[in-house]
Amino acid sequence: MNLRQLDKKHFGRQGEPEDVVIVGNSADSYLTDSRGRKYIDFMMGWCVGNLGWGNTEIRAAARKFDGPDYVHPDYLYRPWVQLAEMLARITPGKLAVSYRTTGGTESVEGALQIAMAYTGRGTFVSIEDSYHGNSIATMSIGASDKRETFKNLLPNCHKIEPPLDHKALRKVETLLKKRDVAAFIMEPIICNLGALVPEDGFVRGVRKLCTRYGTLFIADEVATGFGRTGRLFACEHFDLEPDVLCMAKAITGGYGGLGAVITTSKIANAIKDDFGLYSTYGWHPRAVAVALANLRYLTRHRNKLLKNATELGQYFLTRLAQMSFKGKATVRGKGFAIGIEVKDKVYASEIGDTCRKNGLLVSAEQDVIMIFPALTVTRQTAQRGLDIFERSL
Ligand SMILES: Cc1ncc(COP(=O)(O)O)c(C=O)c1O
Repeated sequence: MNLRQLDKKHFGRQGEPEDVVIVGNSADSYLTDSRGRKYIDFMMGWCVGNLGWGNTEIRAAARKFDGPDYVHPDYLYRPWVQLAEMLARITPGKLAVSYRTTGGTESVEGALQIAMAYTGRGTFVSIEDSYHGNSIATMSIGASDKRETFKNLLPNCHKIEPPLDHKALRKVETLLKKRDVAAFIMEPIICNLGALVPEDGFVRGVRKLCTRYGTLFIADEVATGFGRTGRLFACEHFDLEPDVLCMAKAITGGYGGLGAVITTSKIANAIKDDFGLYSTYGWHPRAVAVALANLRYLTRHRNKLLKNATELGQYFLTRLAQMSFKGKATVRGKGFAIGIEVKDKVYASEIGDTCRKNGLLVSAEQDVIMIFPALTVTRQTAQRGLDIFERSL
């Protein structure tokens, strides 16, 4: 049996795999497949490889790791504290205490638990059709149509339909006024809705309402974190100080599986007798070593990388807006979180397939094409990738 047949027989996934067999040899914004075909990667594993593939410093940290095979969660371990301290330093506002997770779903799950434990409430408000993970609780706050397959998701999860403007803000207030909402959760720039940028007044308004009605504001920065939108965290676009913030994906740049959920000392202290989120493989020593190397690199080159994402991001938006799509398309985004809503699922998937055949990897989901370049992408590669994109329309 060939690889595709074996994959079909033994591998659980939704739909068919894409026609790319990855073996190794990735470098910067380029991926090479098993046939030696080189692709420009405008997906970076979906907001994972923010520093480009093959970063020599992070690879070296992975190779030379000679720490413990494993550390029991109850022990003390210096690199854990180093990572937690670094996260407290770089995240917005008063966030100070991190809990260890293995990825994004667990981080959001933990955030919801923190909100329930702290407020004593059990209702949530989120954005309709958003994605926050694939556990029961995280699916409950995501797209409502999941309830067709999974009948008994959490009750009392209210969804706000975009556009996220002053009208939507009034709906949030009506819900929060009842004072039974544990948390409002959103991605500050919604990658999972095709890089949807909410109105500034919406985010600022929700923050105020949360404070007024005793609801926690959870920022899900699993996709947007670590420079993706041109700021280290997307919250910074709105001067948003969330009560809880979720991280994963680019926290290691792809070199290890790790996530974190961070909250304020005030909240952590208030719940510490009832809450102590951890998981057996959360913050595995090897993953922590690469996370530290990744974050040290990111913070050292922060200004240059964020400037590149902001300036070249604008170049992407300008060029994409000049291209001719079948029907009316909406181009939007912030920094290197870029979405093109083409309003036709089949057309979006055709564009994705044609781009791949032409040597460019983009993400086509539902009726949106998403572009997530590495923060290190050069203007020349950006131009080359966009030329392929335009040719593939
Ligand atoms: C915003 C957001 N939250 C949570 C998740 C879940 O993260 P993970 O796949 O690491 O469990 C994702 C994954 O795409 C995401 O984009």
